[in-house]
Amino acid sequence: MKIFLDTAHVEEIRTGCSWGIVDGVTTNPSHVAATGRPFREVVEEICDICPGPVSAEVISTEAEGMIEQAREVSSWAPNIVVKIPVIKEGIKALPVLSAEGIKTNATVCFSANQALLAAKAGATYISPFVGRLDAIGHDGMQLAEEIVQIYSQYDFDTEIIVAAARHPLHVLQAALIGAHITTMRFDILEQMFDHPLTDAGVEQFLADWNAAGLSL
Ligand code: E4P
Repeated sequence: MKIFLDTAHVEEIRTGCSWGIVDGVTTNPSHVAATGRPFREVVEEICDICPGPVSAEVISTEAEGMIEQAREVSSWAPNIVVKIPVIKEGIKALPVLSAEGIKTNATVCFSANQALLAAKAGATYISPFVGRLDAIGHDGMQLAEEIVQIYSQYDFDTEIIVAAARHPLHVLQAALIGAHITTMRFDILEQMFDHPLTDAGVEQFLADWNAAGLSL
C-alpha cells in the first residue's frame, strides 16, 4: 500500500520523503491556507520535494471553471494531480480532464455511489474521507471497504486513497482491506514507527553488548 502525506507543510514533506517511504502528497485548500503562502508557490515546492503524485484542489464549483483551473494547475509540474470534489459539476468535469490526460483525485467522497460515479467518469483516484464519517457516528472504513469491493468487482482502474485518517489503526485497516493508498498527517506517519517493545528491545541489546565489552 502506498503512503501519502496529507499536508502542505513543506518541512514535514521534506522529512517524510527523506525516510524513503512517502509515495505522494495530498493537499487541500485548508492545508494551503494554513501555510500563509501563495498556492502556486507552495504546490511547486512540494512537487520539487516529492517526485510522486501531488494533489492540488480546484476552487470552482462549476464544471467549466474546474476544467479551466485544472488545466492551469496541472501545467505547474508533471506530477500534479488535480483534486475535483465529487459534486455533480465535478463528476461532469472528470471525463473531460481524463480525455486530456490530466490526472484527477475525486475528493470529499462520503458514499460508495459517489465513488462509483467518479470511477465511471474516469477519475485517477477516489478519496473517501473516513475520519470525518467516524466523527458523525458512521463507519468510515466500511465505506472504504465497499469501494474496494465495487472497484475490484468491475475492474475499475481508479485507485482508492483512504483519506482523513485519524490514527495508525485507520492505516492498518486500509492496508488490510486492500486500499491502494492511505493519506495521513505527518504525526500519524510518525506514530506508525513506534512500539515500546522495539525501544526496550534495542535498549536491552545495546546494554548487553556494552556490558560484555564487545566491539565491531
Ligand atoms: C484528503 O485528501 C484531504 O486532504 C484530507 O484527508 C481531509 O482530511 P481532514 O478531515 O483531516 O481535513
